[in-house]
Amino acid sequence: MIYLDNSATTKPDRSVLESYTKISTDFWANPSSMHQFGGEAGQLVERARSQAASILGVNTSEIIFTSGGTESNNIAIKGIAIQYANRGNHIITSKIEHPSVREPFEQLAENGFRVTYLPVDLDGRISVDDLKNAMTEETILVSVMHVNNEIGTIQPIEEIGAIINKYPKCFFHVDGIQGFGKVPLDLVKSKVDLYSLSAHKFYGLKGTGLLYVRDAIQVASLLAGGNQERRIRSGTVNVAGAVSVAKAMRVSMEKYNKYLSKMKEMHSFLYRELSEINGIVMNSPLAGCAPHIVNFSIPELNNEVFARTLEEKQIYVSTTSACSSKTRALSKVVSELGKGDKVAGSSVRLSLSFETTQEEIETALEVIRESIEKLSELKK
Ligand SMILES: Cc1ncc(COP(=O)(O)O)c(C=O)c1O
Repeated sequence: MIYLDNSATTKPDRSVLESYTKISTDFWANPSSMHQFGGEAGQLVERARSQAASILGVNTSEIIFTSGGTESNNIAIKGIAIQYANRGNHIITSKIEHPSVREPFEQLAENGFRVTYLPVDLDGRISVDDLKNAMTEETILVSVMHVNNEIGTIQPIEEIGAIINKYPKCFFHVDGIQGFGKVPLDLVKSKVDLYSLSAHKFYGLKGTGLLYVRDAIQVASLLAGGNQERRIRSGTVNVAGAVSVAKAMRVSMEKYNKYLSKMKEMHSFLYRELSEINGIVMNSPLAGCAPHIVNFSIPELNNEVFARTLEEKQIYVSTTSACSSKTRALSKVVSELGKGDKVAGSSVRLSLSFETTQEEIETALEVIRESIEKLSELKK
């Protein structure tokens, strides 16, 4: 199998699984229990919190363990909007966010918030001037993703943070789910107030993640209950999950330090080779793209049929749009690039991990070339 769908999820690292199993076997107490057994579990959670904080360069108290990206994004966006609604009712996001950001904004719009959706350019990048023009004294939240999950575009987080910082009533949330461990981001320097992570995107386990919430900030709790995790995320803390998040963060930083240049080389090679294939339109930007994502379209072909052809050779990729018998569903992200419906309806994403090899990339390219040729012939 050649797995090129690492933006959907990564294979859990063995050491992450081992630490999860060990903690679940030996330290399964409720970390809030007052007895010693509970205390030991609590200490493990605090150690994981401090490790995660140190990797992110923030305070230990600023880490809230959650069940992953969707939960972190929902808590950050709705929690801030509800908590600070008395300060203003304007919130800003981009037009190419993941549904776990887009949908909460839509829910807030239905509940009386005024939402500005920032457009993106051909590369999928927002303009900081558009953001400057959109900001008002009523703006209480801006949420912009670090790396786009479909096309890999990196947003100018530091510049965005500098603009928002001029508005003391406004908070800055970053969906860091595709960026962490692949594209560096200094949360403090970029004036980020809230930052979401999901461990299954970096060799951790599904259903685990965290939300960074700057110390001074309060967030209305979406789940009322036992007031765990600074009252931001009630519910018995998943001890083994929290430990495994910190472990996955450490593992992924080790891989980053060891293999980033190899991944970057493979990414450039893949990008160059794909852009030379007849019938392919590149969607990922050439510059300012995360090193693990390459997205392209095959406007004259059906991307679902293409993906199935690759699957026959055990090559797993992702099409970012679903297909129905009559009309092709469009990728919302690629649509926003303004390249037309044919391109938006035929996108394909390849996403690498630090485990991906040059040989796998070369085999995949060969099969991609053959499949495009074969499918183009069949259409004639
Ligand atoms: C950019 C981005 N945000 C949020 C999520 C949701 O994360 P999770 O699967 O942990 O809920 C994803 C997952 O695909 C993502 O790519």
